[in-house]
Amino acid sequence: MNILVTGANGQLGNEMRIVSKNSQDRYIFTDVVEVEGQGTTILDITNLDAIRKMVSDNDVKVIVNCAAYTNVDKAETDQDFCELLNAKAPENLAIAMKEVGGLLVHISTDYVFGGDPYNTPCKEEQKGTPTGVYGLTKLHGENNIQKTGVDYLIFRTAWLYSEFGKNFVKTMLNLTSTKPQLKVVFDQVGTPTYAYDLAKAIFDIIENRKFEGNTGIYHYSNEGVCSWYDFTKMIAEIAGNTSCDIQPCHSDEFPSPVKRPSYSVLDKTKVKETFGIIVPYWTDSLKICIKNLLKA
Ligand SMILES: NC(=O)c1ccc[n+]([C@@H]2O[C@H](COP(=O)([O-])OP(=O)(O)OC[C@H]3O[C@@H](n4cnc5c(N)ncnc54)[C@H](OP(=O)(O)O)[C@@H]3O)[C@@H](O)[C@H]2O)c1
Repeated sequence: MNILVTGANGQLGNEMRIVSKNSQDRYIFTDVVEVEGQGTTILDITNLDAIRKMVSDNDVKVIVNCAAYTNVDKAETDQDFCELLNAKAPENLAIAMKEVGGLLVHISTDYVFGGDPYNTPCKEEQKGTPTGVYGLTKLHGENNIQKTGVDYLIFRTAWLYSEFGKNFVKTMLNLTSTKPQLKVVFDQVGTPTYAYDLAKAIFDIIENRKFEGNTGIYHYSNEGVCSWYDFTKMIAEIAGNTSCDIQPCHSDEFPSPVKRPSYSVLDKTKVKETFGIIVPYWTDSLKICIKNLLKA
């Protein structure tokens, strides 16, 4: 089977490259920019004709969409482009897969929730109540995919980090090793996700054809719950950055263009029961990623 990965130069896309190395299937990695030595084919997912051509030329039966507009703050002043990438482009991919009877694997976010004050983990069927443009456009993307009638798997994930690209773990590794003091919000609670773990879960589902008869929306983050403050404390502890004094603070101490959810923990019961996936605890995965980052 031929499988197309979009946004392959991003965090999750790069992890898809790693986990699919010995696949029985043929993976084609695409993005808007070519990275030297990476084997990336150019594909802009806002261009439906280009997607159709790529699908037909390569007899693609599954698309894994790792491309998105992921800058949550910038999205507030860039709504049209964010909507194009997060809502219209996934619809394009869904149309192309529907036309050939294929499957679209799409990634969404915990930020489709947060407008209502939850204090129990969010389930798949819970109504989306985004607090900002990023979450709203991702919710539109989910709806657009469903309207096409394509077979789809939508994985809502959260607080993604990896060895690749820019992310919170890399930022905090740097700040806790260089700053004497740091304040981090403790009133936003969720669960970090090591992109490698999510990529492995997606790969397992495709490689073992577990998607058959199981299309729908699923939640996937690592296990456990923490605030950004707890996350930072753990990053510093694992890295041995003991000289930085890390203090908790409230979100309103940091002026931000967007209101982020105060609670967006995802309930993963469905993904575990449906696919038999074992989800690693967040600190266990964090240790692996930081070890890899520090030895690089
Ligand atoms: N990051 C998080 O904390 C987080 C949390 C929850 C959910 N998610 C979701 O998880 C998924 C993966 O996130 P990520 O952090 O791996 O994203 P990422 O690192 O930002 O990667 C996204 C990739 O998509 C590419 N791209 C941008 N426009 C494109 C286009 N028109 N056509 C094709 N590719 C394009 C980007 O290229 P350029 O960099 O050159 O623009 C980048 O390589 C996304 O759906 C995201 O919404 C992420």
